[in-house]
Amino acid sequence: MPLLPSSLYGLARPFLFGFDPEHAHELTLDGLARTQNTPLACAYAAPRVDDPVTLAGLEFPNRVGLAAGLDKNARCIDAFAAMGFGFVEVGTVTPKAQPGNPKPRMFRLPQRDALINRLGFNNEGLDAFLANVQKARFRRSGSGGRKPMLLGLNIGKNAATPIEKAVDDYLACLDGVYPHADYVTINISSPNTANLRTLQSDEALDALLGAIAERRHALAERSHRRVPLFVKIAPDLDEGQVAVIAATLQRHGMDGVIATNTTLARDAVAGLPHANEAGGLSGAPVREASNRVVSQLRAALGPAFPIIGVGGILSAADARAKIAAGADVVQIYTGLIYRGPALVREAAQALLQGRSAA
Ligand SMILES: Cc1cc2nc3c(=O)[nH]c(=O)nc-3n(C[C@H](O)[C@H](O)[C@H](O)COP(=O)(O)O)c2cc1C
Repeated sequence: MPLLPSSLYGLARPFLFGFDPEHAHELTLDGLARTQNTPLACAYAAPRVDDPVTLAGLEFPNRVGLAAGLDKNARCIDAFAAMGFGFVEVGTVTPKAQPGNPKPRMFRLPQRDALINRLGFNNEGLDAFLANVQKARFRRSGSGGRKPMLLGLNIGKNAATPIEKAVDDYLACLDGVYPHADYVTINISSPNTANLRTLQSDEALDALLGAIAERRHALAERSHRRVPLFVKIAPDLDEGQVAVIAATLQRHGMDGVIATNTTLARDAVAGLPHANEAGGLSGAPVREASNRVVSQLRAALGPAFPIIGVGGILSAADARAKIAAGADVVQIYTGLIYRGPALVREAAQALLQGRSAA
């Protein structure tokens, strides 16, 4: 992961890529955590592009966000705010701390601007996550009266929790994150937690979202604040499955959908080193499938339902294509690894220009 802006990232990348991917990631996050809110943050800070859009009742300062999984423990929120993101999603957090899968579990496929990971929700658990979220200062900094960036908190289940009891984990996380989130993401699409994706299917999704909607209602009554709920889905779904999911989201009053997570497909990387590693593939090779799911969702959900598009954005043109496919706003993860923080401003500016051209 990048620590330096624009052209400097071109110099930092070979250094970071000299390390095993997970080690490079940890080094970078440590660097960001140490330097955020200090003068050293100027090494990666960039002015935020002003391109406000209202979605699910929230004002997004611009249309480029950080995707979940990069900052699983919410340690670097202020550093990412400084990079100019309009919104940042941290997590996935689970109720209890867990180590994730055995290492190595993260692989680069640089020939295709791609990663494969099977991290398996390694994280420090809900309490540590919330302590970090509460330490973040981005909401206080209010630069020149500008609206702060939005914060999404992404929740999941522990590996040790049987899938029949998954709802208990989601509810425990929802209770914890609710007061601190601008929106909450229900992640049911990681390929690296056994059976998690079965929660996307018909009855399981119906039961899960029913329970979550009921709990949100209670939390909203108590706090007088209705926090939007987004559901994050996989790219490995056919049109019929996407249509059923779309109807289920609307039936339970969900506020948006995030499409997509990583893919299990390997056709786009066949024959390359690491292509056969188990896990989720991200970056350029997932772009087409993600865009397909986004456009199927748009067709099924109609023009007003919020869609956050993610998967394979490596350039400004990719960000525009995601919007053209039907997304309202976009997120990036793998693009940040390959392109560095300059991609944030580049993409946000391209979307702003696309809007004025439209
Ligand atoms: C190393 C890695 C870890 C990830 N962890 C999570 C996670 O914890 N929760 C989640 O919802 N998505 C996670 N994702 C998925 C990303 O948020 C994103 O949906 C996916 O990578 C596609 O976007 P991209 O092509 O821009 O990377 C992870 C992705 C990567 C590469």
